[in-house]
Formats: sequence, structure tokens, C-alpha cells
Amino acid sequence: MSDATIEVYETEARQFPPSAEFAGAALANDRSLYDEAEADLEGFWARQARELISWDQDFDQVLDWQLPYAKWFLGGKLNISYNCLDRHVEAGKGDKVAYHWEGEPGDTRTITYSELLDEVSKFANVLKGLGLQSGDRIAIYMPMIPELAIAMLACTRIGVAHSVIFGGFSPDAIIDRCDDAQARLIITADAGYRRGEASALKVNVDAALAAGASTVENVVVVNRCDTDVTMAKGRDHWWHDLMADASTDCPPVSLDSEHLMYLLYTSGTTAKPKGIMHTTGGYLTQVAFTHKYVFDLKPDTDVYWCAADIGWVTGHSYIVYGPLANGCTSVFYEGTPDTPREQDRESDDRASWSKDRLWDIIERYGVTQLYTAPTAIRTFMKWGTSELEGHDLSSLRVLGTVGEPINPEAWMWYHEHIGGSSRPIVDTWWQTETGGHMITPMPGVTATKPGSACSTIPGVTAELVDDAGNVVPEGGGYLTISKPWPSMLRGIWGDPERYQETYWSRFPGRYFAGDGARLDADGYLWLLGRVDDVMNVSGHRISTSEIESGLVDHPSVAEAAVVGATDDTTGQAIVGYVILRGGNEASLELAEEIRQHVANKLGAIARPKAVFIVPDLPKTRSGKIMRRLLRDVAEGRDLGDTTTLADASVVDDIRAGAAEGE
Ligand code: WTA
Repeated sequence: MSDATIEVYETEARQFPPSAEFAGAALANDRSLYDEAEADLEGFWARQARELISWDQDFDQVLDWQLPYAKWFLGGKLNISYNCLDRHVEAGKGDKVAYHWEGEPGDTRTITYSELLDEVSKFANVLKGLGLQSGDRIAIYMPMIPELAIAMLACTRIGVAHSVIFGGFSPDAIIDRCDDAQARLIITADAGYRRGEASALKVNVDAALAAGASTVENVVVVNRCDTDVTMAKGRDHWWHDLMADASTDCPPVSLDSEHLMYLLYTSGTTAKPKGIMHTTGGYLTQVAFTHKYVFDLKPDTDVYWCAADIGWVTGHSYIVYGPLANGCTSVFYEGTPDTPREQDRESDDRASWSKDRLWDIIERYGVTQLYTAPTAIRTFMKWGTSELEGHDLSSLRVLGTVGEPINPEAWMWYHEHIGGSSRPIVDTWWQTETGGHMITPMPGVTATKPGSACSTIPGVTAELVDDAGNVVPEGGGYLTISKPWPSMLRGIWGDPERYQETYWSRFPGRYFAGDGARLDADGYLWLLGRVDDVMNVSGHRISTSEIESGLVDHPSVAEAAVVGATDDTTGQAIVGYVILRGGNEASLELAEEIRQHVANKLGAIARPKAVFIVPDLPKTRSGKIMRRLLRDVAEGRDLGDTTTLADASVVDDIRAGAAEGE
């Protein structure tokens, strides 16, 4: 990284006070949680575990750390579904709404805690009836409907581990994951709604089972969209048929704190996905703790909304387990932020469709916390503020972001236009592997800087190290976690060597997150993205996200993606793809101006070799930009597997544009 780029960040970093006015009850400018954790890490987590979670049997040892294997709350016994449901009903909160669910077409369901408990108990009995037992693994491949959360919680009630497979994945992905986990059952739906269409799921399960996944004995199918499906006799069962006869009486099983709770597969550097293992007591403790304090939760009155998909870890921890453990009311939405409202879809003129679905939901339910991703925020910027007009967003108290580094411009837009220039923004850094938040400001406590995730939560210690593993007190380095934390992954399913190798061998004794970061003079952390997204141009290390930040800083640019394309002279060359903000015309002059803008802002070394103005960027359905595809386009290669793309035509458009620009 050149000094010039570092300086830009430093001078831009305005500090925002902790927003005590809007945060408050939980933390009220109080650093005592940090002090307590610093003085006694294990004592701190033990207190959280006992305060936030109900244990059937108290633990007698807080932590057993045999590097790289941690066990938390040893000897303790608990049940997750009991913690998420029964205890709230027992406390007289059975009529409280757990989920305001909203389907993409606009249908709604209101589900109270006691209704959710009944459904979960019934489905747990269904699972037992299908022969599933504690210790078994099952796969879940479903749209964002209440039955998805019901299925997950039912697993935890009887000690079955779930492996949720994102609904956008292909039959091959289902085979890989079911084979690896030896899943005995798949729960699915006929289809789910996506951008106005019923998007088929069951056919993918059929294709997977025709070609592999031979450990799967039964398939349970929810009828979401009333589409035609083929049901294999003896193997496939309708959810509603099985539930019709199921009893609501299913006592929660008391499970060991280290009982396997779920697997979630995530991609690494090789083609084979890794089955990240999470266990019971530590996971629930950290997600309950972070959900409560990071979102400054007022559980009795808040209406919290995490607009992620449960197919990813964000939905596991912050749609299902954290919010339910804390007994709060959540919005649970099936569609994507840009799904138009129903009345719009009657018109053929797409351009006239409204883009205010999110703002409409926030206003209607009086949402108090919104948790979304930078890519969504940049999309809203692209649409412009007119979509916000006429919506009262004043119920919002805390705004969250997750998934990728947020550029200061998007942070400021979120702060000003959604947060009325006063709500705290929590930029939360964490991973599938970490289970819960690790680095984030705390509302009411941390003064924020736009674009910085600030610092670790109480009870977590992060350090930056250089190539040789030396701690970097200030400046750029590799992000490592130096002490175990309760919701840390317990391993990679079936592959202890890969666990050791991927996370614990690059820097001995440290968890290596795979991200680069910078620590500024005030001790604030700035996440720079995956280290594999770091480019090397003429021997200078430059992060793609820094250049992206420079591109979106240009007033005409709404969103940008940067890749390092192989270059004979410089090793790698910076290639930028940008989407313009509404009202700007694409032209070669403008592309050149944007290129120059980056050079002016970040230094000549950062000037992209080429900037292409494109109509859209290739994204996975979870909203992550597929840089690999952009790199392939930049280097003129075949594109390989594009099945995870949300919209495959985007790449063709970009390729056509790139050819024209040459
Ligand atoms: C990136 C998602 C910067 C990071 C919860 C990490 C972030 C990867 C942030 C994990 C953030 C996530 N700022 N980068 N606030 N949050 N990331 O497993 O590169 O889907 O390693 O978990 O996303 O992605 P995962």
C-alpha cells in the first residue's frame, strides 16, 4: 500500500460522536463491558452465558483451549429451541409477535412466539417420525418462508444438525453438501418467489437425488407457490400432510454445550466447499450477546429487521437465533430490496415500477433496526433519493451493515438519507467461521468514522500482523484473532487437516481471517477486503476495495468493482467496472475522467489501466460481486461456472461493452 492512499483515508475520517441520543438504554456511553472483558475474558463470557441463556445444567468450566480446538461452557446442558421459544412463552410473552413475515408478492403472516413454538414442536415430531435422531445431519433448501426457520428450530429441539443450502445454488451444490455431511433428509419447497416469478426448488432436489446424494432417505416439501411437482412415492412427503397429524407436544432435548448445532458450507480457495461447524452453547451466547448490544436492542418494543437471506450465516445468526433468543419482534421478508410492489407489476412499463419496497416495509411495521449490506446501500444510492420521498423512516434507531467493506461515501449516504444524520451506523465485520459479530462499533459507546468497522466487541481480541507474523501497531496488515471466542467454528466437517491448514498455520497460534486491514493512529480498524483481492501493481500492493472507494468517490459513479488483470509489464493491472448514477450518460470522456479522478484521489499508482462503464455488475444472489468473472472478462477467458450469478445476462452486456471500449 502506498502512503498516499493511507493518507487519504486518514484525512477523510471524520469522527462521529457515539449518538447517545438514539442509543442508550443498553449501553449509555458506558465502557464497562470492555473493561470487564479485558480484566477477565472467561469471567466476562461466563456472565453473558448465564445472563442471556437458560441452562438446564450449569457449566463447570468456561473454556478448554487446545489450540486450534476450543470448547466453551463445558459440562453445561441446554436446548436452543427452548431458549428461543419456550422460555419466552413461559414468561408470559406467548402472544408477542416473533415474526412479521412478508412474502414477495405481498402476502403476510404474523407469527407469535406460542404459534412458533407449536409449529416447531410439531415439526420436531415429524422429524422423529421420519427416524431422525440426535447427531444426524439434514439439509434444508428453501425459500425465505417461515417454514425455513421452523425447520431449523425443530432440528435444534432434538439435536439434529442442519445444513442450510442457499436456494440459489445448483443441484451439484446440493449433491456436494449432502454427500459431505451424509444428510439423511432434505427439506425443500416446490418453489419460492423471486422478482415476481416462482423460482423452482424441488426440481433441483430431484436432479440432485437422481445423480447422487445417496444418503438422503426422505424429502419434505412445502407448497409455497402451488406449482406442479413430481412426488416420488415413499420418498417425498408434503409438509402440510405430515404436520396435519403431528402433536404439539415435543419436549426439548437437553444437549451438551458442545453438541453440533449446524454446518454451513462456505467457499474457500479450492472448489470443494468447507462445512463450517458450529456448536450449541458458545454460538448461542455470542449471537444473543451481539444481537442485544450491537443493535442496542429494546426487546419489548423494537421491530428489528435483518434483510439478509437465511441461506447465509447472517440470516442464521441475526434472523433466526439471535433475535429469537432475545425474544424480540422481527420482520422476515421473502424478497430482495428491489422487488417492486405488487401494484407496480401489473404494468408492463418496468421503468415506472416503484423501488421503495424496503422503505414501505420499514414505515408499515415501524422498523427500529435495519441490517443490510453495502451493495444494497449503493444500489439505493444509484436509484436516488426520490424513492425515499413520502416515506417516514423516523422509527429507525440503529443502522447496520455487513458483508464487505463499506466505502465512506455509502456510509455517509446511509447516515444522511436513511438515518436522518443522527442514527448510529454499526459496520459489523465477521464471517461464517466466526459465527457472530467480531469487529463493530457499539451504539452509544463508540464514536464512529465513516467506512471503519472501528474495533472488536468486548471479549474478542484482533491483531494485525505482517508477513513475518509480527504484530503491526499501526498501518496495514493481515487480520488475525489472537484468542478463542465462544461462537468460533469448531472445525471443518470431516477435514481437521484443512481446518488447521486454512486458519491456523499461516501465523502460528493465531486465527487467520483471510482479510487485510489497516489500523489508524486512533486505533480504528479499516477492513480492506480479502487478501486474495489485493493486487500487486509494479510491486505495490493495492487493495481492490481502495480503488473501488476512489471510483465511487466520483460524483457520477454509483457502484464499482475492481479486479487485478494479469499484465505483462506491471504484473497486474487495475481494471475498474462502474455503474453510473441516474442522470449520467456513458461516454469515453466520462470513463477517462473517472480514471483520472482515482489518480487524483489515491495517487498515480492507483490509476486504473481501464475503466469500463457498465449497466450492471455480476453478483451472486446474496449480492457479492463475482470478481472472478470480471477478471475473466478483463483477461478474455472463458467464464466457467456461472450458476451462482443472480442474472447471467449481465456478463454478456459487460463483455460487449468491454469489446467496444478496446
Ligand atoms: C467480508 C458474512 C468488511 C470479509 C458475515 C469476510 C466484511 C467475509 C464485513 C465473510 C465488513 C464481512 N467489512 N468486510 N463489515 N463483513 N466482510 O463468511 O472479507 O459470508 O472475510 O460472512 O466477508 O463472509 P461470510
